[in-house]
Amino acid sequence: MQRQVDTTKGYSDDAAALAQQYERIRFDQLHRDVLPYFPSPPSDVLDIGAGSGRDAAALVRLGHRVVAVEPTAALRREGQRIHASLPIEWIDDALPTLTRVLTQHRVFDLVLLCAVWMHLDRDARAAAMRSVAALLAKGGIVAM
Ligand SMILES: C[S@@+](CC[C@H](N)C(=O)[O-])C[C@H]1O[C@@H](n2cnc3c(N)ncnc32)[C@H](O)[C@@H]1O
Repeated sequence: MQRQVDTTKGYSDDAAALAQQYERIRFDQLHRDVLPYFPSPPSDVLDIGAGSGRDAAALVRLGHRVVAVEPTAALRREGQRIHASLPIEWIDDALPTLTRVLTQHRVFDLVLLCAVWMHLDRDARAAAMRSVAALLAKGGIVAM
């Protein structure tokens, strides 16, 4: 039987402070090495483990259509509040299964996994990679 690990443990404790901390990081600096590989807008982007939505917001501002997956309810609410003026589509879902996103039968040109993968053990990573692969459009890229 596979062990279920709560990978969101600790993220709810002070979600407002965490969100502020995440929002202080500059998207263009954080992703400067991979930005040249990102698809041109408008593309379909999936930000998994979106946290406060910092990256989702920056990508929407660049002209992309962005789905932000965030399993920690308190962080998701913070993100929705902070970026209320932007058309980010928030989904409550989690790796490795991404059940809700997968049942929508959509594909994405860019899947972003920023500071999330470290929460998954080896078996969960294998399963998560299968989920991510199923969500990639032809020629799509994963940034992690
Ligand atoms: C270190 S934070 C990074 C947040 C954001 N990506 C950033 O770079 O600011 C990790 C995020 O992953 C989320 N997370 C934890 N376990 C997850 C899982 N199994 N699937 C998807 N997201 C997860 C947490 O709730 C948290 O928002």
